[in-house]
Amino acid sequence: MFRIFLLVLIPYALVLSVLLWRRAPARRDGKTAARESGNPLRVLVIGATGGSGRQLVQQALTLGHQVTAFVRDPARLQIEHANLRVAKGDVLDYTSVESAMRGQNAVLSALGHRRFFYPNRIQSDGMRNILRAMKACDVPRLVCETALGIGSGVGRLGLPHTFFILPLILPFYMWDKLRQEDLITASDRDWVIVRPGVLTNGAARGSYRHGPEVGSYLWPVRISRADVADFMLKQLVDDSYLGAAPRLGW
Ligand SMILES: NC(=O)c1ccc[n+]([C@@H]2O[C@H](COP(=O)([O-])OP(=O)(O)OC[C@H]3O[C@@H](n4cnc5c(N)ncnc54)[C@H](OP(=O)(O)O)[C@@H]3O)[C@@H](O)[C@H]2O)c1
Repeated sequence: MFRIFLLVLIPYALVLSVLLWRRAPARRDGKTAARESGNPLRVLVIGATGGSGRQLVQQALTLGHQVTAFVRDPARLQIEHANLRVAKGDVLDYTSVESAMRGQNAVLSALGHRRFFYPNRIQSDGMRNILRAMKACDVPRLVCETALGIGSGVGRLGLPHTFFILPLILPFYMWDKLRQEDLITASDRDWVIVRPGVLTNGAARGSYRHGPEVGSYLWPVRISRADVADFMLKQLVDDSYLGAAPRLGW
C-alpha cells in the first residue's frame, strides 16, 4: 500500500515542481527609488498582524520610518507608537487598499493565510489590488515576501517539502503564490520578491545568506521572521535586487 502511495506521490510531486518552476527574473534598473535622500519613508505594511508583518512594523518604526499597518482587525496588532497609523481593511477590498496607499513611499507585503486545502486566489487577488492601488497612488516600490520552493527556487526547500509538504498540504497555496509572483514580475513598479526558507519565530541573528546559492535540494533551510524583516527593510533603500527574487536563509 505504501509503495503504491509513493508511486503516485513521486510523479505528482515532480509534475507540481515543473508547474511551479519559472526562470529567474532579470534584475533591472529602478525608475523611482523609494528613498527620499535619507529621509524616513512612509511605508505601508500589508499583513501587519502576522508573524513577519509584526517584525516589519516594529523594525520599521525602530528605523524611524512612518508606518501604516494594514490590518483586518486592529485589536490584533497590539503595537503602539507615535509614528504608527493603523488602516483597517482587507486586501480583497480594493477601496480599503487604495485608501491606505495614499501618500506612501513604499509597500512591504507579508500577506499569507491558512486556507490551504481548497483552491483560492487570496494572495493573487490581494496582490492585484495592491499593485493597482500603487499605480493609482504613484507608489513606486514593493518588497513582497513569498517563499523558497517556487519559481527558480523550486526544490530548494529540501526533500521533505518537495515530496511531502508542498504536494500534500500546500499545492493550492503555492500555486496562488506563483500567480502572485507572476503579477508582480509583470508590473511596472520597482519590486523585490523575497523568498525565504522555512520561517521561525526566533531572534534576529543579523547574519544570513541571500542570493541564488541559498536553498538545498536535500534539507530545509530556515530563517527567522526577524531576519527576513531586516532584509526586506534593507530592500527599500538598496537597488541591488531590484526586479529580482533573492532567496533567503541562515
Ligand atoms: N511559514 C513558513 O515557514 C513560510 C516560509 C516561507 C515563506 N512564507 C511566507 O511568508 C509570508 C509571511 O508568513 P507569516 O507566517 O509570517 O505570516 P502570517 O503569520 O501567516 O500572517 C499573514 C498576514 O496576512 C494577513 N492577511 C490574510 N488575509 C488577508 C486579507 N484578506 N486582507 C488583509 N490581510 C490579510 C493576516 O491577517 P489576519 O491576522 O487578519 O489573519 C496576517 O497579518 C507568507 O506569504 C508565507 O506564505 C512562510
